[in-house]
This record gives sequence, C-alpha cells and structure tokens, in this order.
Amino acid sequence: MDRLVIIGGNSLKGRIRVSGAKNAALPCIAAALLTSELVNLSHLPAVSDIRTMLKVLEALGCAVERAADEDGLQYTAAMRAVDLETGEMKAPYDLVKTMRASILVLGPLLARFGHATVSLPGGCAIGARPINLHLEALARMGAHIEIVQGYVEAKVPGGRLQAIDHTFEKVSVGATENTLLAATLANGTSVLRNVAMEPEIGDLAELLNKMGARVEGMGTATLTIHGVEILHGAAHATIPDRIEAGTHLCAAAIAGGDVVLERVRPDDLRALLDLLERMGCLITERDGADGKQLRIQREPSQKLRARDITTAPFPAFPTDLQAQVMAVMTQAHGISVIKETIFENRFQHAMELERLGANLRIDGSTAIVAGPAKLTGCTVMATDLRASATLVLAGLVAEGETTVDRIYHLDRGYAGLEKKLQGVGARIERVGGGSV
Ligand code: UD1
Repeated sequence: MDRLVIIGGNSLKGRIRVSGAKNAALPCIAAALLTSELVNLSHLPAVSDIRTMLKVLEALGCAVERAADEDGLQYTAAMRAVDLETGEMKAPYDLVKTMRASILVLGPLLARFGHATVSLPGGCAIGARPINLHLEALARMGAHIEIVQGYVEAKVPGGRLQAIDHTFEKVSVGATENTLLAATLANGTSVLRNVAMEPEIGDLAELLNKMGARVEGMGTATLTIHGVEILHGAAHATIPDRIEAGTHLCAAAIAGGDVVLERVRPDDLRALLDLLERMGCLITERDGADGKQLRIQREPSQKLRARDITTAPFPAFPTDLQAQVMAVMTQAHGISVIKETIFENRFQHAMELERLGANLRIDGSTAIVAGPAKLTGCTVMATDLRASATLVLAGLVAEGETTVDRIYHLDRGYAGLEKKLQGVGARIERVGGGSV
C-alpha cells in the first residue's frame, strides 16, 4: 500500500495546473447512458473514482475508450451506450460499494430503458449518506422501487417516466443530479425546487443541453426540464476541480509562498477565497491561455489570522474543503471555529491532526482550533478523501518527517497531488508498499 512521506518546512513557489473536476465528471459519465450515440468527455482527472465509474458503465454494457493526456493526469473517455438492453442492466455491488456516486446511473437507466438494478451504496466514513431523496423523486416520476438483497430494483410500468413538480425536502447534490438526469427523457415538463446549486450541476446541465436536453434555471434553486423523446451524442470538457484548486490554495496558505493556479473558475471558489483573504493571504485573479488563473501569496513571516467558517450548500463554504482549512487554521493566530452542517461525522482528520501537534477540540458538529500550534512529523492515517489531503497539508509545515498512510483514499480524488506539490517546491514523495 502506498504512502506519502513529507518533509516539512519549505515554502511553495511556482505554477500548478488544476485537473478536471471529479464530482462534475461523475454525473457527466452517467449522462452517457441516456443516448446510444457517442459522448466524448475530456479533462477527466486520472483518479480511481473516475476509473470506477467508467467500469460501472462497462459492466452495464457501455463501450468505453480512454485516451490519456500528455501529462498522464487527465484523460478523455469516449462512451457509447448501445445494445444495453441485451445485458442485465445491473450495477454490481463490487463496484458500487467503492463509490457512492455510482447510484447516479439509476436515473438515466430508468429514463431510457424503464428498468434498472443498482446496488445500494455502502455506508460511508463521513456519516450516514442515505439515498432516500433520490428514490423519492424517482418514485414520484412513476418508478416502482423495491430494495431486494441490497439492490435497488426499479421499474417504470408504462416504460416512460412522467415529469414532476417536486420540492426536495433537503438540498442534495446527488439527488438533484439523479433526478435531473431522469427528467431529461421524461414525459412533460419537470420543475425541481430546492435543488443544489453546486457548479458541478451546472456543468452536467450544460452537457445535457448539448445532448439535446432542455434544461433551464442553471445556477438557481429551481430547475425546469422540458422532457424530450431522445438525446444524441456530444463532446464536453469537464470544468476545473474547485476542491483540488482549493486544496492547493490551502497548501500555499499554510506553507507560505507564491503559487499560481492555472485553469480555475474563481467564482466557484468565492467562499474559500474570502476566508483565505480574511486570514491574511493576498489573492489575485487574471486571465490565462485556457481559463482564469489565481495567484496566492503569503510571506512565510506574515501571520495568519484565526477566522470562523460554517459549511453549507453552495455558494456557502463547501464541506469538501472543511478538512483542508482546518489544517490552515492550526497555524493561524487565535481561535478559529468550524461548524459542519452537511455531514455529521466529518472531523476524523482532527484526531490525526492532534497527533501532529494541533490544538483543537471537537464538540458535536463544531470544531474549535487554537493556533498557532507547532506541528511535528509522525505517521498518520488517512481516513477519507479530503481528510487525506489535510494530513498532507499539515505535513508541509510539520517539523521533520510526516508519513501519510492509506493514501488510496487520496487517490480516489486527486490526480498526482504529490507531483503537483513537488513542482512548486514541496518535499513530498510517494513510497510504495510496506505499510499497514
Ligand atoms: C456530493 C459530493 C460530495 C460532497 C457533497 C456535499 C459527489 C460525487 N459528491 O455528495 O463530495 O461532500 O455532495 O456537498 O458529487 N441526504 C439525504 N438523503 C439523500 C441524499 C442526501 O438525507 O437521499 C443528505 C446527506 O446525508 C447529507 C446531505 O443530504 O447530509 C447532502 O448530501 P448530498 O449533497 O446528497 O451529498 P452527495 O451527493 O452524496
């Protein structure tokens, strides 16, 4: 099992190119099931979650061709979902258990074929992650849904889903995506209210419209989808990953230095940019050759200030950057308070940060971080995707050597994190085997 070994103390200087967004690519891959024509998706990050999603499509009978970019950190997938009817239309447990987002194939399969069997995603380390909101919306569209031996078995009696006017009782990214995917081919006009407004949903809607769907209201809390009979092929470039970009911004904030991120969308990152500026970093935006760039500067001698955040659905502070900013807060002067409102068990990184010397207290869904704390390297264990990134960030300022174990979590969502950090002067290395 691989681990990362980091020697702390270097400030960072240079440029980092941000990969395509994993969480935007996953529903876009599921969208390929809505048509028998070719869907070509570029800027897919070379991470294991994307590989898993493509395998789910292949297990369903979809043809997938992959072509890697020059740097090996991104690739393009050409997907063609023809002749699926001859297969058993089943997303198997072995694949689904490793990644919840595979549930996103349910909406498209039901919409196009009128039946599907998808394994229930297993529990997840960051809290209970039910799919009731997905299933409720699909049931209201006319699907008969049963849970049989760990599988969601769904059928549409008349063959075609019916449009709905539906208000989600809670804002959910996944449930919004699954229902949106299903509504594109439903009979009539659907109005989905209280939807998630995350940029990844806008990206999905953009691809769907390129495929011939009629989705309106992107970026707002209400989506209107005029159902169509058939969708066709399309080519689409995935948006840059705001969480990866945010993680690099946190790296520069904690280690100090001068880093330019290439291919970013600053508007997707406002809540973090605002926080880092209030903590004392200088951030500037400019136009680059293929999109916007963000430059972050902090003299290592310049103090970081303690500040508070509350995670909430977009455009508020993202739960997927909560762990990373906790590492930065350990180095800020004063008391910072984090309130996590999305997932109930998303502070596991706190204990590992404490082992490195962080001074913090968890009280239910609130974390109180006192800084600055002197961090000292040791062996720490990654517990989930974003928690792994946090430990790497802490390692950048910890004295001596920090070893982050179980980085298969990190590899689910970051393409070449250590290579990108090496490129800006961090002392970080991937070491294979030998760990627990
Ligand atoms: C997505 C992101 C994940 C991010 C999360 C919140 C992907 C692949 N994953 O996850 O990285 O952390 O959004 O921004 O894009 N809920 C229910 N019932 C449901 C669905 C969700 O109660 O049927 C609850 C969850 O327990 C949670 C909240 O709603 O408390 C938000 O979850 P949701 O937005 O659905 O997260 P995901 O789509 O799983």
